[in-house]
Amino acid sequence: MSDAPDCASLHATGFAHPWSASEFEALLADSACLSVGVDTKSGFAGYLMSRIAADEAEVLTIVVAPAFRMFGCAQRLLLDHLSRLAARRVQVVFLEVDAQNEAALALYRRNGFLEVGRRKAYYATAEGGRGDALVMRRNLT
Ligand SMILES: CC(C)(COP(=O)(O)OP(=O)(O)OC[C@H]1O[C@@H](n2cnc3c(N)ncnc32)[C@H](O)[C@@H]1OP(=O)(O)O)[C@@H](O)C(=O)NCCC(=O)NCCS
Repeated sequence: MSDAPDCASLHATGFAHPWSASEFEALLADSACLSVGVDTKSGFAGYLMSRIAADEAEVLTIVVAPAFRMFGCAQRLLLDHLSRLAARRVQVVFLEVDAQNEAALALYRRNGFLEVGRRKAYYATAEGGRGDALVMRRNLT
């Protein structure tokens, strides 16, 4: 897994309100956080981070570098991550996703995540509006 500044740079390619290097530093140092990254010969291609609490985990963020998208990178990252969580006895995984994020929704639905809630006007959009967040859940057992 790469370091905090690399994580922050990559995050900025995928989100309108990216997290800072110091936020990533705190996440990478947190023993409750699981971070899995993909490094390739041509650079840092993506990562997925989650936080574990007892037998539950929450996906905090997933991002794949634009040049590596649509090649199955996120699919592999997610499957790898879920099996690591299962190995740590996590039973259920939650995440929040922008209701307009078709790529992420397709990824999560394809991998068995079900919508269990909607947070109205949860996200600040790049255009200055508000967007809904969907809460999704997948059991690992
Ligand atoms: C969402 C994201 C991580 C997907 O990464 P990726 O490596 O391109 O995804 P994959 O190639 O592994 O695709 C996995 C599945 O997601 C879906 N998918 C990926 N990109 C898609 C797109 N642009 N439109 C529609 N579906 C898409 C496909 O259904 C694909 O399944 P398929 O093989 O059956 O077609 C990537 O687009 C990204 O980093 N986006 C910016 C950050 C972000 O939105 N993160 C999610 C926040 S919750």
